[in-house]
Amino acid sequence: MPVNVSIIGATGYTGQQLLEILLAHPKVTVTALYSTTDEPKPISELVSRFYQRTSLVCQKLNISDVISRSDFIFLALPHTQAMEIVPQLLAANKYVVDLSADYRLNNPKTYQLAYGLGHKDPANIKKAIYGLCELYRLKIQNAKFVANPGCYPTAAVLGLAPLVATDSLEDEPIIIDAKSGTSGAGKKLAPEMLFTEIDEDFHAYKVNSHQHIPEIEQELTKLAGKKIPITFVPHLLPVKRGILSTMYVRLKTKSYTTPKLISLYKKFYQKEPFIRIRDNKQVCLKDVCYTNFCDISVQVFDRTVIVITAIDNLIKGASGQAVQNMNIMLGYPQTTGLL
Ligand SMILES: NC(=O)c1ccc[n+]([C@@H]2O[C@H](COP(=O)([O-])OP(=O)(O)OC[C@H]3O[C@@H](n4cnc5c(N)ncnc54)[C@H](OP(=O)(O)O)[C@@H]3O)[C@@H](O)[C@H]2O)c1
Repeated sequence: MPVNVSIIGATGYTGQQLLEILLAHPKVTVTALYSTTDEPKPISELVSRFYQRTSLVCQKLNISDVISRSDFIFLALPHTQAMEIVPQLLAANKYVVDLSADYRLNNPKTYQLAYGLGHKDPANIKKAIYGLCELYRLKIQNAKFVANPGCYPTAAVLGLAPLVATDSLEDEPIIIDAKSGTSGAGKKLAPEMLFTEIDEDFHAYKVNSHQHIPEIEQELTKLAGKKIPITFVPHLLPVKRGILSTMYVRLKTKSYTTPKLISLYKKFYQKEPFIRIRDNKQVCLKDVCYTNFCDISVQVFDRTVIVITAIDNLIKGASGQAVQNMNIMLGYPQTTGLL
């Protein structure tokens, strides 16, 4: 029996990507779509890429309607919106994957510092499993509620995990130099995101003050068992999608050559279908865009290791990983609908 799935925030960039994946998923039926629309409208009228592909209608969010029509719910809402409705969805015993940041940070005080607003549902933070599939699959298997990781944290933590988890690094801040395409900001209108501003330009933003810093530090600290500080500089690329992150770390000893490091990474991720260690080529956006892969390259120069990762922010950084989480939660092969 297919599982009845709904998407709240179906007209946004991650919501559209979710619908794209779920329409082709063999184990689910998409039953309901929600946005802020005042009147119910065919999704194909709101998002023209779905023209003649589905007759699904998108309607204004109504929680009792969501609960009656779906067993599994994806929340693709701006942060602060998810925590308004998660308590009701969990009370109704639904499966929930939240793509926003609302339940990713373990400490509500850290949430307030990062997002500038007090958390309204601290009780359910403890119930949320952090959905970085490659690191937390066993917990996700038994979860009903998953906090899907942020796009920058996915790219950074997957690239650093093999070195951090093996305690191979000096105690000094890790430098993460990340570049994202414009869809990372969602579809909201902002003058600085106009084509005329972005095209043929390239610049840093939120230098060492981006809201994803606490999430990356939280996850690296969990892996290491000790505090791991980072220096994080995001940049805006004049492309629609993709994140390329270059990370600079120093080894404790000269114990690794590049081939040895590549072996460490391949062993660490040997069972992971969506991680590709690229030993013969530098990673690039065009190899991963429109896929759920995270490509990683790693090289050592004396004691300095340079790790580079590439993901599609809307797929491995959001909706693809969300479906990977759903597959794991429901006991399907994790690649279902994604390869
Ligand atoms: N973009 C990325 O690369 C990315 C990656 C990882 C995680 N995320 C996270 O995923 C979430 C969604 O991001 P996005 O980029 O898809 O955002 P987006 O393009 O701005 O879309 C937001 C969606 O939420 C809907 N919405 C907003 N308020 C609502 C309400 N009160 N009731 C019902 N629907 C409401 C919007 O509907 P309308 O169309 O009617 O306004 C729209 O469908 C965010 O929390 C974001 O941080 C995004």
